[in-house]
This record gives sequence, structure tokens and C-alpha cells, in this order.
Amino acid sequence: MQETPLGFVAGIIIKRIDWAEHVFSLRVQAPLSAFPTPPYTAGQFSKLGALNDDNEWVRRAYSMVNKPCINGDNLELEFLVIEIPDGKLTPLLEHKHEGDDIIVGTLPAGFMTIDEVPDTTRDLWMLSTGTGIGPFLALLEETEQCQRFEHLVLVHAVRTKAELVYRDTIIEMMKTYQGKLRYVPIVSREAVSGALSGRIPQHIQDGTLEQAAHLKLSHQDSFLYLCGNPNMIHDTRDVLQQLGYKKHLRREAGQFSFENYW
Ligand SMILES: Cc1cc2nc3c(=O)[nH]c(=O)nc-3n(C[C@H](O)[C@H](O)[C@H](O)COP(=O)(O)OP(=O)(O)OC[C@H]3O[C@@H](n4cnc5c(N)ncnc54)[C@H](O)[C@@H]3O)c2cc1C
Ligand SMILES: NC(=O)c1ccc[n+]([C@@H]2O[C@H](COP(=O)([O-])OP(=O)(O)OC[C@H]3O[C@@H](n4cnc5c(N)ncnc54)[C@H](OP(=O)(O)O)[C@@H]3O)[C@@H](O)[C@H]2O)c1
Repeated sequence: MQETPLGFVAGIIIKRIDWAEHVFSLRVQAPLSAFPTPPYTAGQFSKLGALNDDNEWVRRAYSMVNKPCINGDNLELEFLVIEIPDGKLTPLLEHKHEGDDIIVGTLPAGFMTIDEVPDTTRDLWMLSTGTGIGPFLALLEETEQCQRFEHLVLVHAVRTKAELVYRDTIIEMMKTYQGKLRYVPIVSREAVSGALSGRIPQHIQDGTLEQAAHLKLSHQDSFLYLCGNPNMIHDTRDVLQQLGYKKHLRREAGQFSFENYW
């Protein structure tokens, strides 16, 4: 294998889950000693890399779906990936299986963490499209830290039912949170019972998201994290701003913050 680039460590894929055609999770094991202490904070992202046909490393950012999981001398990091047909890295990842090598970035980063949510927040709304649900699943694994919120709302918007990933995990989390956690699936390209159809911004505008979550959005009590498709983030930001919500800045508290995936 080619020498591992600076800021990366060689890992091994210990589990692969195929959710739908082109949508899969990779659980990677890598030496804990290569990462900072603590290795990362739930909600952050790192990088994955693989060699292309020209023997060059291709590297991209991916969010961890799990909070740090230490197993002996190793760290286990799980990633949710969608294959972009003309992409440079994801078609290489699509061909990776259990036991295969992969390189992982050793400097996780990102501000979509529980600590960054203002202290005054009572209800945390997590709005995602596609693989953007990943960091929210990691946040929700931090059950103790999440107890500070009165309500947690996880919104997952996808094209097809098969892409409503980690449903069993979410159902288990809902049991753990005993009513605190609300899950709102949205499927845009087929009719699915128990899920909203359409798109996130429209459902905020007409109140159907609040209805489905059995919770009111409020300037005083709510904070919203948005993650995934930049067009969703753009359109949702417009609607939120029309409703009087402000982007959160460290120097000036607001009610929403986001992470664009491309
Ligand atoms: C902070 C951060 C976290 C990320 N976390 C994840 C993650 O957890 N899971 C994940 O699958 N991706 C994630 N991404 C996107 C990821 O980094 C890659 O961009 C993506 O996997 C495509 O890589 P590629 O090399 O196959 O395509 P590229 O060759 O890089 O890109 C092809 C083009 O596809 C478009 N594109 C990129 N990503 C997507 C997408 N998801 N859907 C539609 N179009 C896209 C862009 O316009 C891009 O120019 C994240 C990105 C950022 C910035
Ligand atoms: N999902 C698949 O079946 C599939 C299969 C093969 C390859 N891919 C590749 O993977 C990429 C990512 O697919 P994806 O399904 O994760 O991503 P996506 O295109 O981001 O769709 C996820 C959800 O976001 C919604 N959305 C898109 N634009 C929006 C906006 N402006 N405002 C609000 N919501 C918006 C979509 O609704 P709409 O349906 O209304 O757009 C869909 O419900 C695609 O671009 C494609 O290259 C996807």
C-alpha cells in the first residue's frame, strides 16, 4: 500500500451495512493512539480516503454517525455514505467491504456539537437530508448531555423509503428518551405511510412539521441544526429568516446553525 498521507492513519473496515442501492455505512477501526484525547466530539466529521486507479489518494470529509467508541487500543468510527455516480471517492468506497483497508483522518473537526447549542435552548431541532442525518445520530448517542433539552426533534428527509436509515436505532433511542425524542421522516419521491411527503422548508412554512413533531417552534426555546443538501439549507434558511429566526454566531446568539455537505 502507498504511504499513508500526513493527517491520516491506516484503518480497517470491520462492518458494512447496505441500506439501499448506493447508500451504505462503513464502520472503521483505527489505532486510538493516532487521534487526539478525546478523539472527537459527537457531531464532528473526519475524513476518509482511498487510492484511485492512478495510485493517488482521494480524500473527502465524512461525519461520524457514532460518538467515540473505544475498543481496547482501537477507535471505532462509523460513517454513512451515498455514492455519487460521477464522484471521485464514493465509487471507490462503494467497492469496500469488511476486512478492506481504508485511511481515516486523525484531526476531526466541526462545530455541530451539543456544546455549541446556546444554554437557553429548551428544544433542539435537527433537520437533515440524506446522509446529513449522520452527525445527529452521534449527538443523540450522548444521552446524558442531551438530558439538558426538554425536547429533541430529529427530521430526516430522503427521496425513498429505503433511505430512511438507522430506523431500528432511532426507535431504540426513542424508548431511551421516553418521549423527549420526536422523529419525523419525510419521503419526497414515493408515498409512505407514517412519513410526511414533500420538503423541509415547505413543512416549516405551513406548520406541518410542528404538527408532526407535536411541538411548536419558538424564537425563545428552539434551536435548529440543519445538515445535508446545500439547497435544502438555503431554502430552509430563507423560511426561517422570514419567520424571524437568526443564524447563530458565537458573538451574537441566534436560533439556527448548519453544515453544508457540498
Ligand atoms: C463537513 C462535511 C461532512 C460530510 N459528511 C458526509 C457524510 O457523512 N456522508 C456523505 O455521504 N457525504 C458527506 N460529505 C460529502 C463528502 O465529503 C463528499 O463530498 C461526497 O461523498 C462526494 O464525494 P465524491 O468524491 O464521490 O464526489 P466528488 O467528486 O467530490 O463530487 C462530485 C460532485 O457531487 C456533488 N456532491 C457531493 N456530495 C454530494 C451529496 N452527498 N449529494 C449530492 N451531491 C453531492 C458536489 O456538487 C460535487 O461537486 C460531507 C461533506 C462535508 C463538507
Ligand atoms: N437518492 C437516490 O436514490 C440516489 C441514487 C443514486 C445516486 N444518488 C446520488 O446521490 C446524491 C444525493 O442523493 P440524496 O438522495 O441523498 O440527496 P438529495 O438530492 O439531497 O435528496 C434528499 C432529500 O432532500 C430534498 N431536497 C432536495 N433539494 C431540496 C431543497 N432545495 N429544499 C428542501 N429539500 C430538498 C429531496 O427532495 P426532492 O426529492 O424533492 O428533490 C430529498 O427529499 C444525488 O445527487 C445523486 O447524485 C442518489
